[in-house]
Amino acid sequence: MTQPRMDGRLALVTGATRGIGRAVALAFAKAGAHVILTGRTAGALTEVDDEIRSVTGKPDGATLITLNLKHGDKIDALGPSLYTRFGKLDVVAACAGILGTLTPVGHITTDAWAEVMDINLTANLRLIRTLHPLLERSEAGRAIFVTSGAAVAKNAYWAPYAVSKAGLDALVKTYALEVANTNVRANLLSPGPIATAMRAKAFPGEDASTLKTAADIAPAFIKLADPKLTENGRIYDAKTTSWLG
Ligand SMILES: NC(=O)c1ccc[n+]([C@@H]2O[C@H](COP(=O)([O-])OP(=O)(O)OC[C@H]3O[C@@H](n4cnc5c(N)ncnc54)[C@H](OP(=O)(O)O)[C@@H]3O)[C@@H](O)[C@H]2O)c1
Repeated sequence: MTQPRMDGRLALVTGATRGIGRAVALAFAKAGAHVILTGRTAGALTEVDDEIRSVTGKPDGATLITLNLKHGDKIDALGPSLYTRFGKLDVVAACAGILGTLTPVGHITTDAWAEVMDINLTANLRLIRTLHPLLERSEAGRAIFVTSGAAVAKNAYWAPYAVSKAGLDALVKTYALEVANTNVRANLLSPGPIATAMRAKAFPGEDASTLKTAADIAPAFIKLADPKLTENGRIYDAKTTSWLG
């Protein structure tokens, strides 16, 4: 199937420094979008920007925003500053996330719990809150959030991560109900096992060469960013390329 183009579309990606977010940023740029890369370190963002210039062959690279998602006030400031600069936003792909510590429920510290919730869940609430007015100004605003099969609590010792992703599913599905009568569509994408640093941390003995790469599933994000997309409040399974529930 031919990939939809993203020419003229403005897309913000969190977690753009590596793993899935980086591959999504590159795929969006290759498809013609102007990409706003967000990540914790300026150096890592510059490397992705250099790669974008190299793959697109265009002198204009991405817009880079250094943003640690633990700093909620900085997330809240994103919407107003992007409004001043661009006036709208067409796509947000919220890819950043952490696994946290894998440990029995009785041993989870409140600090470790809070860190996973802050980055995987509350940061995405703040993103929706600050970016929604900009998505509404797009002809076809598309919000994509990365969830996990772990949200259904299938792994012992994974409680903070599983709860954060289950909460994200509920948050995004609720948001989707609220925007159903607008031009905005909000969905979740479950990537399946992907060879990234997070996966290696979760399964250290695994042979990463047996897994799909982040680049393999990046086209699924383009599908969910398509202005023609009608699905809303659903989970797209990138492994089976089908919609779940
Ligand atoms: N890989 C898999 O098998 C898999 C499966 C299911 C779901 N997922 C989900 O896919 C998403 C991407 O995961 P990945 O596998 O690509 O992981 P990854 O390679 O570890 O990348 C995580 C990304 O999140 C960013 N990040 C972490 N903490 C941050 C913070 N405080 N502020 C801003 N950015 C922060 C990282 O930035 P730095 O470079 O600064 O650390 C990095 O760009 C996550 O939401 C994850 O839960 C992954």
